[in-house]
Parts: sequence; structure tokens; C-alpha cells
Amino acid sequence: MSTLSRRAWLRTTGLGLGATAALPGLLPAAEMARVLGNPSYPDMLAQLERDVTTARRAAGPIRLSFNENPFGMSPRAKDALMSSWAQHTWYMPPIRQEIRRTFAQHVGVPEDHVLVTQGSSEVLGILAMAYALEGGEIVAPWPTFEDLPRWGETLRATVHKVPLDQHLDHDLYTMDAKIGSGTKLVFVCNPNNPTSNLADDKALREFVSNVARRTPVIVDEAYFDFVDVPGHKSMVDLVLKGEQVIVSRTASKIHGLAGLRVGFAVARPDIIARLQQYVTGDANVFGLHAANASLQDVEYQTFVKQKNAEGRKLLLDTLARLGKKAAPSQTNFVFFQSGKPVQQLQRHFESKGFLIGRAFPPYTDWCRVSIGTPEEMRQFVTELPAALA
Ligand SMILES: Cc1ncc(COP(=O)(O)O)c(C=O)c1O
Repeated sequence: MSTLSRRAWLRTTGLGLGATAALPGLLPAAEMARVLGNPSYPDMLAQLERDVTTARRAAGPIRLSFNENPFGMSPRAKDALMSSWAQHTWYMPPIRQEIRRTFAQHVGVPEDHVLVTQGSSEVLGILAMAYALEGGEIVAPWPTFEDLPRWGETLRATVHKVPLDQHLDHDLYTMDAKIGSGTKLVFVCNPNNPTSNLADDKALREFVSNVARRTPVIVDEAYFDFVDVPGHKSMVDLVLKGEQVIVSRTASKIHGLAGLRVGFAVARPDIIARLQQYVTGDANVFGLHAANASLQDVEYQTFVKQKNAEGRKLLLDTLARLGKKAAPSQTNFVFFQSGKPVQQLQRHFESKGFLIGRAFPPYTDWCRVSIGTPEEMRQFVTELPAALA
């Protein structure tokens, strides 16, 4: 990378040259290799972990509030982003086709089963437009990720928000009972946000298959990459069986690209063609290059998953020791019953340098905490006893 492009990179990271000279872990892989004398990739990731923790602390309160990836994008994704510089002036850059191919291979479907979007939120918005523009009904669990229900309401569909059951699981029986001739879409989120838990695979699979005979079902798998259950399978295989199922995935979570806005829908080609009509624009070229590289950077994904599991275990173990009930998280966040109004905890933690999640009614004495770096989580758990006392 030239000095000029390195400066440009440093500006985009919001760091001056001085700061990054001391934090080489924030550099793209090629530049890090030059500065550190060709370390192995695991050594680069260890450097990233140390330096990102320092940089996040220096940037203000530590964000454990939006289920973001504290490590940001992979060093190899940074390389790809930097080397795509010339293409930022182009319409229809070849990376649009390339990433479709890469993602299709990643999930094991033909390319015509994939739509690349501006974040997976866009998948949810265009689904609502494609199916509920003329009203009708949408069935969704509650609480869940709000975008699809919100889009439905904006389009004046009737949204049936079916409360989770006492185990914080989707109440599939009641959801099924709400589905009628006016239902245009059914939403499930697995693992669910804000509750973090994974549905029973057999029960959810049967539900999705059954419902898809009557109405399209969207399965939001934004947190799929963090699931640690051996043999856990995506619902993409139902798409391949030709069912009316749409799976959404994102580059925002394990790939750390939330601000660059890249997401994916996987569905039958006729459904992809229908959704395509409602797409409002293209994902940006830098995001596409970074996501394309990150999808192929298996070492980085494994690193993020392991570090997330480490921080998550520390938090869950501490909560268990403090006698607090927590959902069995399979995501990059933990949902637990603090017994206090969440606003009170937010204020407490902000005064200690941490931002935590907002309230998710009706679970107003529960709290959602996103997993930061292991060092951040070690600091966070030392604050927990006083905060929960
Ligand atoms: C379950 C779920 N789906 C989708 C999204 C949207 O992600 P993005 O639009 O960044 O892909 C989020 C974001 O937090 C989420 O929690």
C-alpha cells in the first residue's frame, strides 16, 4: 500500500498516523505484515485484538449496545477494500457478480438463488413491499428484530405480534393459529434478537415447512455464524427443496461490516426475481469488496467466533454466580433478567464507561449486553456485582 493510501486508510479509521503507528493491529493485512515483519496470520489477529481494545477504550464508552463486532473487519477485508479504490467511480462494478458467486458457494446454492442487498434490513423491507404492499397480515414473534413488523405497519398491513413463550421461544402453536387466508408473510428469527436463544431445530423446521405451503416464510439468520451447537443447520436447505422460504443473512455481524451495509437473501429464483423489483439501490463497492474477502477469510471468522464464545462464557458464568437468569445465548449478545429497570442499568454502566442495550418491552427488567473483546468483558463483569446489587 502506498503512503498516500495508508494515510487515506488511517483517516477512514479516524486515527492519526501517530496513534496507528502505536496500533499496527488496526492496519490492513499487507501493511501490518510490512510493519511487523511478516507475522503469521494468527499473530496478526492477536495484535488486532490488543490494538482494537485500546482503540475502542480511547474512542469513548465501550459499545456493548448494538450487537456489533468489536474487532471490525478482517485485516484481509481491509486489503480488499483498499485495493478496490479505483472502482469507486464505476457503476455496476464486477464485484457485484463476484460476491453473489462467493456467497452462493458459501451457503451451497446456485447463484440465481441469491440477492445481494444493502444490509439484511433491506431484505426485510423489500419483502414487506413485495408481499404486503396491498395490506394483508403479517405474523411475527414478539419481541424480535423489529424491521419486518415495522415495515409491515408502515405499509398498513395488520401485524400479529405473538408473544414469546415462558422459555423465551417462538410460540409456534399460537403463531400457526394466527395464520389465515389474509396472511402475506410469516417472520421467524433464529437465533432471536433480543433474546439470543436458538429455537428447537426440529420444531422450527417443521413449522417453517408447514407454513410455507400456505404463505412465504422469512427466516432471519443474522446470527447464524455465532451458533455453537454441533450440527446446527441453516434453513437454506428448505429453499433448495423449492419451498416458499426466504433466508436472510448479513455481513454486519461476524464479518464486522455493519457500517458498510451488505446483506443477502437466499430464495427460489422466482422469489429472488420478485424481490429484485423492490430493491432501491446497490450495496456500495467498498462494502462488497470487504464482504467478498471476509466470506473467504475462514481464519478470521473462526477467530471472531472463538473470542465471542470466550467473552460470552465469562458473562454467562458471572451472571450464574450472581444468581441471575439468562437466556442460553447462541449469539454475540446475552439477554438476562437484572431485576431492575434497564434505564437504571444503562445509566450505571454509562458512568463506568460502557453502553448496554435498550429496553425490550415487555421484558423491562431484562437487559441485553453485546459481547466485546475478552478484555472488555473482563472489565465489564467486575462492574456487574455493584450494578446488580
Ligand atoms: C436479527 C437481526 N436481523 C437483521 C439485522 C440487521 O442487520 P443488517 O441490516 O446490518 O444486515 C439485525 C441487526 O442487528 C438483527 O439483529
